[in-house]
Amino acid sequence: IGRTVHVYPEIDSTNSAAFSLGHSGAEEGTVVIADSQSQGRGRLRRPWQSPPGRNLYTSILLKPPIEPAVAPQLTLLAGVAVADLLSTYCPGSIRLKWPNDVQIEGKKVCGILTEMRTSGHGIDYVVVGIGINVNIRKDDFDESFRNLATSLRDETGGRMLSRLDLAVGLYEHVERRYARYLAEGFGPLRESWLQYARIVGEPIEVIFRDELQAGEVIGLEESGALLLRDDDGREARVLAGDATVKKK
Ligand code: BTN
Repeated sequence: IGRTVHVYPEIDSTNSAAFSLGHSGAEEGTVVIADSQSQGRGRLRRPWQSPPGRNLYTSILLKPPIEPAVAPQLTLLAGVAVADLLSTYCPGSIRLKWPNDVQIEGKKVCGILTEMRTSGHGIDYVVVGIGINVNIRKDDFDESFRNLATSLRDETGGRMLSRLDLAVGLYEHVERRYARYLAEGFGPLRESWLQYARIVGEPIEVIFRDELQAGEVIGLEESGALLLRDDDGREARVLAGDATVKKK
């Protein structure tokens, strides 16, 4: 990963750029990185604030030999790789929140957006977009996010961190996890994801398009769906939405 790197001072979205590169046949592992994004995208069509000089916005082009139905595994893979990386900065306090947030002390430090192109043959390519709040300060966030988001700098004593070091570390960790995923499948990844998420046994609520699902988490499916058991003992799978852990 990162044999070919496209660097931009500003771009609409690194995911869009990587998607176009995929379309024109760029090799697997090609990455796009930008100092700022004018149209940074989040999950569920939300915008992703992307000011210059502060954070990491990068997208990785992958061509995994997997079925489209299990592509959400790549989001989980990226989450685990980011957690591996950030654990070297904040040992023990990195937590994954299903499906794709990386948190420190309950606040979001990284978001992941996976998009793919499929054809009759299955997956053509996948773009894994990763945004990490690196040096942005609490007060720079829009007010509505201030209590929900944090940055690596704010969590590590306030010193400016090298975005280059982080980017290199990120590509190394994604490469390591991806190689193991291709060789051994989803199993080891699921274990690591569940360890970082510490969510099994927790009561949660998930809201998606005004529908609420509630229950105790019992596991993580191959598809990347969260498996719940509701109050009546029925099992339910949650494929998308915003999850909140309920206090017992
Ligand atoms: C989310 O948590 O909603 C996902 C946020 C993903 C943001 C990253 S920043 C790099 C890449 N380019 C984008 O436009 N989005 C992703």
